[in-house]
Amino acid sequence: MVQGGMGIGVSLSALARAVARRGGIGTISSAGLAAIVSKRLGRRVDIQEAAAIEVADSKQDGGFIAINIMVALHTTFTDSILGAVAGGVDAIILGAGLPTTLPEAIMDADVALIPIVSSVKALRIICKRWGERYQRLPDAVVLEGPLAGGHLGFSYTDLNKEDFQLERLFGPVKEFAQKHGDFPVIVAGGIYYHEDIVRWVNEFGADGVQMGTRFAATHESGASLDFKQAIIDCREEDIIVPKKPGSPCGLPFRLIKTSPGYQTALQKNRPPKCNRGLVLRKDEAGDFTVCPAKDSYDSFCICNVLFSAHGLIDKEEPIYTIGGRGYLVDRIVPVDELMDELIGLNSH
Ligand SMILES: Cc1cc2nc3c(=O)[nH]c(=O)nc-3n(C[C@H](O)[C@H](O)[C@H](O)COP(=O)(O)O)c2cc1C
Repeated sequence: MVQGGMGIGVSLSALARAVARRGGIGTISSAGLAAIVSKRLGRRVDIQEAAAIEVADSKQDGGFIAINIMVALHTTFTDSILGAVAGGVDAIILGAGLPTTLPEAIMDADVALIPIVSSVKALRIICKRWGERYQRLPDAVVLEGPLAGGHLGFSYTDLNKEDFQLERLFGPVKEFAQKHGDFPVIVAGGIYYHEDIVRWVNEFGADGVQMGTRFAATHESGASLDFKQAIIDCREEDIIVPKKPGSPCGLPFRLIKTSPGYQTALQKNRPPKCNRGLVLRKDEAGDFTVCPAKDSYDSFCICNVLFSAHGLIDKEEPIYTIGGRGYLVDRIVPVDELMDELIGLNSH
């Protein structure tokens, strides 16, 4: 059981440590980590140091710790990997884009490399590139379906189509993995209850599950109290994947429609601006330049709305991201209680 990486600041060491202590894989998120750790320590640390510190903190009770690193965050990608490896991370889970290039320096490290994909096509490309460049295959893969929270690896039109649901995507991905060294396939998106896990493992043959939203609504999660309450309060019809305004990362992003930052962006009440520069777009020369949210109302400012959802800043309004079945969550629980439920000791 993998607790999914959740940025910004939702899955930090407190959550990952509690999950790992119970035998799950606890995952921290590298998004915005330098700012969060700097504030906590009262001194400025860079992303390498922040990742190393957060990993080391997460490992205090033992167990298996991963870091989730978003490919779309070009400016911090390599340094997040190097820092996490220096901190002794057990696995690197690479999401929000195709991780075709990795730092050579980590190839000899004892760390599992686990890409997140949403199609067998993406997995095939990664395996081809990693084979050519690094003579290695993924140690496992997370197959994330369209019901996940956060950024989604589908087009807006494919999201709701039958052929793109997790159950349909699983077969070809599992078959591909079996033919290429039989690495484990971990499924994610819309898995909430013990019964879901049993069904995925026993009926479909998944090797593991990754869950996000349920862990976001735990005491140990780094989401603000308002964010946790919004998860509890939201109804099925409140969970949407809007196109405009959407995330400047260029991928569909699922959110709670009543989030203050989304409503403000929708009504064009916040002028476009970017003061962080974490998400960059490529210009015609192929260089990374400004964030699309800097000069257009079509994107909301993903960095500030997520920093606000974690509670790091209060000058900007939050946007709450959530999985498509997030309306099922009805209370905030300690990780211990959630793990008991998920392994079948308590019923929900
Ligand atoms: C609040 C939240 C933040 C997330 N942030 C990230 C992220 O930064 N990177 C990433 O790869 N996935 C992210 N995800 C996706 C989760 O890791 C997980 O794969 C997904 O939520 C699984 O679906 P579920 O929420 O239905 O369990 C996020 C999900 C949530 C709910």
